Formats: sequence, structure tokens, C-alpha cells
Amino acid sequence: MKKLTYIFDEICDYRGILVAIQQIKDIPFEIKRIYYMYGTKENVIRGCHAHKTLQQVLICINGSCKILLDNGAERETVILDKKNLGIYIGANIWREMFEFSKDAILLVLASDYYDEKDYIRNYDEFLKSINLPSNVS
Ligand code: TYD
Repeated sequence: MKKLTYIFDEICDYRGILVAIQQIKDIPFEIKRIYYMYGTKENVIRGCHAHKTLQQVLICINGSCKILLDNGAERETVILDKKNLGIYIGANIWREMFEFSKDAILLVLASDYYDEKDYIRNYDEFLKSINLPSNVS
């Protein structure tokens, strides 16, 4: 599966490390929303959905977690375990987030506002949606 990961530049000096992420320049969309999750309980699987149009970049800015990506044909797991490592997830990709470390903080940069209508939360529906030609409703 073609996947896009980023290693964002770390600006290091004697005080420590700073990472900056700019819309369009460093990631391919304008950021309309950020959200983050932490305090994730053991053995929890989050996500379990795809989006019809939303684009996102996920960065585990503390701790680690795993991201399963599924395009309907292939599945791949990515480990987010670096504070400057991001993964891009475009539309029509089923994703599951799991194996969060106790200290994990997963930051999400999103291309649009929260809209429940953009979610596909049922896996069979997801498979149907990607197999339909775009002109069939
Ligand atoms: P949910 O989509 O279940 O999270 P995840 O995909 O990580 O499992 O979202 C949990 C709740 O938070 C749900 O009630 C919707 C709400 N929510 C917002 O209000 N705004 C947001 O930007 C997001 C991502 C979720």
C-alpha cells in the first residue's frame, strides 16, 4: 500500500527540541481542526472507521501507538513511536489505532471540521463504498 510518512524537522538547540508543521508546506492540506487523545486505556482499539473526504496527519507526540491502515485490498500497520513522525491518511482508508502506551498522546491534524456524515463506521459499508464506481449512488 502506498503510504505517506513524514519526518518533521527537529530544531535542536541547547534548550531542547522544537518541531513546526505548516499547512500546505509540510503537509498537503489546510488544517481546520486539531484534536488529540491521551489516557487511552489498555487494549483499547480506537478509530475503526474511514472518512469519505477527510484528510489527516497523525503524530504520536508522546509515547507510542500502532495504526492499522486498510484500503480494502491491503492492510498495513505503522508504528508511531517518534515525536516527529507523522502519517498521512487520506479519504477512503479504514484505520484502527491500538497498542497505545500508557503515556501516549496521539495528535491529529485534520483538513476539515468534525462532521459525523463524513464517517463510514461499518466495515462492510466501507468495502461497498470503495468498490462502487464514483457515478453510482
Ligand atoms: P470517535 O470518532 O469515536 O473517536 P475515535 O475515532 O478516535 O475512536 O469520537 C469520540 C467522540 O468524540 C464522539 O462522540 C465524537 C466526538 N468527536 C468530536 O466531537 N469532535 C472531533 O473532532 C472528534 C474526532 C470526535
